[in-house]
Amino acid sequence: MSTLVIVGTQWGDEGKGKIVDVLTKKADYVVRFQGGANAGHTLVINQKKYIFHLIPSGIFWPQTVCIIGNGVVVDPEVLIEEIEKLKNEGLNINPDKLMISERAHVIMPYHKALDLAREKKAKHHKLGTTCRGIGPCYEDKAARKGFRLIDLIYPNFFKEKLKSIIEEKNVILKYLGEKPIEFKEVYERYIKYGEYLKPYLTDVSQILWGAKKENKNILFEGAQGTFLDLDHGTYPYVTSSNTLAGNACCGTGLGPLDVDLVMGIIKAYTTRVGSGPFPTEIKNHIEEYLRTKGNEYGSTTGRPRRCGWLDLILVKTAIRLNSIKALALTKLDVLSGLEKVKICIGYEYKGKKIDYLPSSVLEINNLKPIYQELPGWKKDIKNIKNFEELPNETKLYIKTIEEYLGIPFYLISIGPERENCLILKNPFES
Ligand code: GDP
Ligand code: IMO
Ligand code: MG
Repeated sequence: MSTLVIVGTQWGDEGKGKIVDVLTKKADYVVRFQGGANAGHTLVINQKKYIFHLIPSGIFWPQTVCIIGNGVVVDPEVLIEEIEKLKNEGLNINPDKLMISERAHVIMPYHKALDLAREKKAKHHKLGTTCRGIGPCYEDKAARKGFRLIDLIYPNFFKEKLKSIIEEKNVILKYLGEKPIEFKEVYERYIKYGEYLKPYLTDVSQILWGAKKENKNILFEGAQGTFLDLDHGTYPYVTSSNTLAGNACCGTGLGPLDVDLVMGIIKAYTTRVGSGPFPTEIKNHIEEYLRTKGNEYGSTTGRPRRCGWLDLILVKTAIRLNSIKALALTKLDVLSGLEKVKICIGYEYKGKKIDYLPSSVLEINNLKPIYQELPGWKKDIKNIKNFEELPNETKLYIKTIEEYLGIPFYLISIGPERENCLILKNPFES
């Protein structure tokens, strides 16, 4: 086994960054394949917190090459800031450490302006986006009006295309009541970004093909989560990329038969940031308990995350959609101290019991979760070093989930630090 894809099984923020960091100890490559600076992946190393939006979460392991694939939409301003911060920490962020696909699309200022303007104008039907320009950039990619990073190093080509595109965007911005974008400023700034990033640009597909042939350990780091997927999520309250494991291939240029294992990350409860349906959302004091104890505030926008009970219908669906054969459970420590814990094992819809997520948000909004109640546990489990030391009630919670899903847990995360993790099986060692 050498190629592992990691995806979130809920609505994002499952703790993917932390698990990626832990597993990177044995990885030669860590690769982002979709999303952009809407992602916020947190690592806590020696009590210091790092949040990455674009840089893959394996960056702190010296032996690992970090790659940004073609499926990612890159905001050069954010990326360069992240590179500079890491360099200031004394890290090697040379082109042998960080590689970026020439084919990755570029977030332009008008993407961010349009994202913001649409959210502002939407009033009652806001999607609650991160306003990072993600939707408008993927729109332009599909419309074949986007810029790829490689375009920034051909000034004349870039100039001509940019002029006509800005003309069109300014008509839309004017309609939305926003200020026009100034061509010259954007052109000059983006050419500079191109010069800065040029040494990092490469053909990622070829690099990964070579790595796979040499049987190197490659870890694909998903962003967002299964139910933010553009096709299979709670549309339209989703992001604008395919977040599923299948996109690890399209988003990097590795073929589908070259993926060996997909691991799903499950947060021990559910959160969602932004608008959209959320059947197991908690509407009493326990929501605030989880938010405070789990520090559930968006890593990218700082917004309070909505909190709810673990929904196994979602996770079961994610297992099917992603071919998940291994699981990691995170934030189990956050549930410590609760009298009782609940797990959703079905929904009631129009008086009938169903065990799937309907396609329409109108239907999802009317689901009534069916819960299995389990005893809680009081003990703080953060510093536990092996599985056997966990309280019996905690073990029962884990076992109930595992039996329902029929997929084994490889890791159990019990705190934000690297060390707060029980590794039951390392996928790179099987
Ligand atoms: P990601 O987007 O999936 O990488 O997740 P985020 O980083 O946005 O959010 C997860 C948050 O939970 C971060 O603040 C992590 O430091 C933290 N975290 C990760 N695993 C654990 C855990 O097992 N316990 C606790 N208490 N916090 C965790
Ligand atoms: P990570 O990788 C949680 C949500 C936004 C909004 C919707 C669309 O940290 O898990 P977008 O800006 O993508 O157009 O917003 O998707 N969203 C996330 N929620 N975690 C994320 O990433 C998210 N990225 C986007 O809040 O509801
Ligand atoms: Mg996050």
